[in-house]
Amino acid sequence: MTEKPKVVVTRKLPYAVEARLQALFDVKLNHDDRPLSTAELEVAMMGADGLLPTVTDAIDSDLLNVKGRRAGIVANFAVGVNNIDLAAAEAAGVVVTNTPGVLTDATADIALTLMLNVTRATWPAENRLRRGEWTGFAPTAMLGSGLQDKVLGIIGMGRIGQAVAKRCHYGFGMDVIYFNRSPVADPGVPAQAVESIDAVMAEADVISLHLPGGANNDKVISAARIALMKPTAFLVNTARGDVIDEDALVAALQERRIAGAGLDVFYHEPRVPEALRLLDNVSLLPHLGSATLETRTAMGMLAVDNLEAHFAGRPYPARVV
Ligand code: DGY
Repeated sequence: MTEKPKVVVTRKLPYAVEARLQALFDVKLNHDDRPLSTAELEVAMMGADGLLPTVTDAIDSDLLNVKGRRAGIVANFAVGVNNIDLAAAEAAGVVVTNTPGVLTDATADIALTLMLNVTRATWPAENRLRRGEWTGFAPTAMLGSGLQDKVLGIIGMGRIGQAVAKRCHYGFGMDVIYFNRSPVADPGVPAQAVESIDAVMAEADVISLHLPGGANNDKVISAARIALMKPTAFLVNTARGDVIDEDALVAALQERRIAGAGLDVFYHEPRVPEALRLLDNVSLLPHLGSATLETRTAMGMLAVDNLEAHFAGRPYPARVV
């Protein structure tokens, strides 16, 4: 009998995914769900044929070039791959795969959740109620602003950007403008492409970010770009924390230069700046974009499909390098 490929999984995964991994591979699971140390990741790269990490694992050049490396595939449990040094992986001949498509709707739903939370100021209102401070209906108290007929600006019109645009256009009657680095043949919704990120920042009432993280987009939403926003505008980020200059955003929110922000991702996760946590014009979530059981299961199954394809020498469902 031929030996099953050895696979190390860095975090606990949904039950159905772990059951399938156990059926297919000689797999080391992480029942405790404790993030692995660099030394443990090195041991995994040296002892296994494949690694199944996620966004909390830094797969850097040192790890990819660790002496005695055996692993030939890093099957990331995420669509984003900014936790992996792709150039180093390519140079080292390590295949990297990801999980696109299956988390589009869940992530777009969280963008909408943040958008509604922050524009309707639900968090401070709920907090008031929970503290027992609600004194009853009052015509001018706890007023938010509506999305209807406002302009949605999407930066990064890929799958998730388009799914957010559809929800906002067909659900709320918003006009959609967007910036995407390359032309989008069919954005799937009536939408106007604009020539720059700056144009979206200046013209939109609600801006939703859907850019990849990593060095190329580091702080692309800079202090100067935040300064272009209307004082009544909101910024929503379900992409990666590093695409925003977080200090500049905090300053703009503190000084009420913009109306608010809805954030699911942060520059130094899981650290969220205290200054941000103290503000009432933000809605904050702990990286919940893909957090439904159905979605996390689908992501795991796609990661397993990628591993299966690798070991069978078949085309990969989702190869990055
Ligand atoms: C991703 O897939 O990139 C998300 O951020 C984690 O689900």
